[in-house]
Amino acid sequence: MKAVVLDAAGPEPALRDAEIPDPEPGPGEALLRVAACGFSHHDALIMEGALRRGVSLPRALGHEAAGVVCAVGEGVDANLIGMETAVIPGAIGHRRDGGFAEMLAAPADSLIPLPAGTDAADGAMLVSPTGVALKALETCGLTAGQTLVVTGVSGGVGGRAAQAARAIGARVIGITGSSEKARRLQDEPWLDAVLLDSEPWEEAVAALTGGQGADAALDATGTALGRLVVSLRRGGRVALVGQVERGAAPFAPAEAVFRELTITGSLGAERRHAERALQLTRSGLIPPFVHETLPLSAAAVAAAYRALKRRECVGRIILRP
Ligand SMILES: NC(=O)c1ccc[n+]([C@@H]2O[C@H](COP(=O)([O-])OP(=O)(O)OC[C@H]3O[C@@H](n4cnc5c(N)ncnc54)[C@H](OP(=O)(O)O)[C@@H]3O)[C@@H](O)[C@H]2O)c1
Repeated sequence: MKAVVLDAAGPEPALRDAEIPDPEPGPGEALLRVAACGFSHHDALIMEGALRRGVSLPRALGHEAAGVVCAVGEGVDANLIGMETAVIPGAIGHRRDGGFAEMLAAPADSLIPLPAGTDAADGAMLVSPTGVALKALETCGLTAGQTLVVTGVSGGVGGRAAQAARAIGARVIGITGSSEKARRLQDEPWLDAVLLDSEPWEEAVAALTGGQGADAALDATGTALGRLVVSLRRGGRVALVGQVERGAAPFAPAEAVFRELTITGSLGAERRHAERALQLTRSGLIPPFVHETLPLSAAAVAAAYRALKRRECVGRIILRP
């Protein structure tokens, strides 16, 4: 089968278009013909060499995959063949080949069945970033009528978190890195306000919340904890989801102490988050959030990497074999 293989990570990641053997579904596994795979920041971190834990190269990356079951291994119900499905990633795209390929093998119990005809990009984005965003919102205890601040709102996790927060009836303030992105996002019905990262948005959050501060914050960038802490009300909660840059994100502990804040990391998504994501997506409450769809090739993966690093994307880049 055709695959895009990462041979070496670094400032100039070594990618190639490759012909590799079709994966064999082992016992308890299913083989999928990949329909779509998101290019996530996780892929970018592996490509640049910032994320090495649990990664072995050479590897076909891509852990946000959806496809159709085309074969099953020993012990797996053959009726699954033909089913459209998303995948809870596990080792996919790190320790075993992922969705930047025509096919991938995955444990059958990691599949999330999709109704026939589900949009391939929505399927690819179902577990991560959408389920990941829903789990993080649960972590920060967001409820209807509350106000959430989201950083990296143009990105996969940040954007999906904003959409999901609106779907549950919250007010959403998004933080973004450029006025061009702010212009593109400001009319989105799932954002109440879009603020620029380069401006003193803590003051704007205070003004938008009548001086009280927001109820919750989700940091998809790992760069904003100090600013989020001073933007929250007493008893507020922060969910930390990622870190897009190396280095420390300073914050003043006293600000968290006086506000009695809860600051928690949130990792991955469970099946129930993916199933909730599917309900919200199918009901239209989580609308499409795709920057661009590209045919899979090493050149396309390299272009997606450059676009992420240059912070050009609003939504996910989707690769289709
Ligand atoms: N906890 C988990 O289970 C989990 C799951 C998925 C992803 N993650 C992590 O969450 C983070 C976001 O992932 P993602 O896939 O949503 O990423 P993404 O689509 O690339 O979005 C990240 C956003 O962060 C902002 N940003 C701020 N500083 C940046 C920088 N130096 N370089 C690039 N972007 C920067 C950008 O928005 P603006 O330009 O608008 O500011 C960008 O759109 C990553 O660290 C990823 O590894 C964690």
